[in-house]
Amino acid sequence: MASSTIPSGAHGDPTRRDFIMVATGAMAAVGAIATAWPFINNLNPAADTLALASIEVNVQPVAVGQAITVKWRGKPVFIRHRTPAEIKAAEDVKMSELPDPQTDNARVTDSAKKVRPEWLIIVGVCTHLGCVPLGNNPGDPRGEYNGWFCPCHGSQYDTSGRIRKGPAPTNLVVPDYLFTSDTLVKIG
Ligand code: FES
Repeated sequence: MASSTIPSGAHGDPTRRDFIMVATGAMAAVGAIATAWPFINNLNPAADTLALASIEVNVQPVAVGQAITVKWRGKPVFIRHRTPAEIKAAEDVKMSELPDPQTDNARVTDSAKKVRPEWLIIVGVCTHLGCVPLGNNPGDPRGEYNGWFCPCHGSQYDTSGRIRKGPAPTNLVVPDYLFTSDTLVKIG
């Protein structure tokens, strides 16, 4: 008789106990997430950093023979609209002459495997100690190979941005890039 007066779901009801345990567990999980969120959020890049993870550049105004410098992830990126003579000079170099052998073709291929020899896109940071080489602005010295010259310790790069002389161990880096049209290039 007594047992029949216990309200449904009270102490003796395993379903009720399970519910309370599940509810407590859920609260604990919510609490943990609420506590962890500020830390997780701090680990996320700031919105402006994310925005710069990739950039889109309109290269239409850059005439043959001209170059521009854009900023990407805090670094200068050189975009040179190469002349036919500059392209030929880069293509004619024998691999045996290069400290860091790489064909010119490989350096002017975008991430969709499209080759555009007229556009050279490289990170403008010398691979020796990180100076910004000269050669991208009108009137800059370009060194013996008509590319870029790093006055810090005399590294010289050719018209493909490959190291030819001086202490820099490797070529100027070609970032990931993709031409989304004939005049728009997405870097990063
Ligand atoms: Fe460019 Fe040393 S940093 S040559």
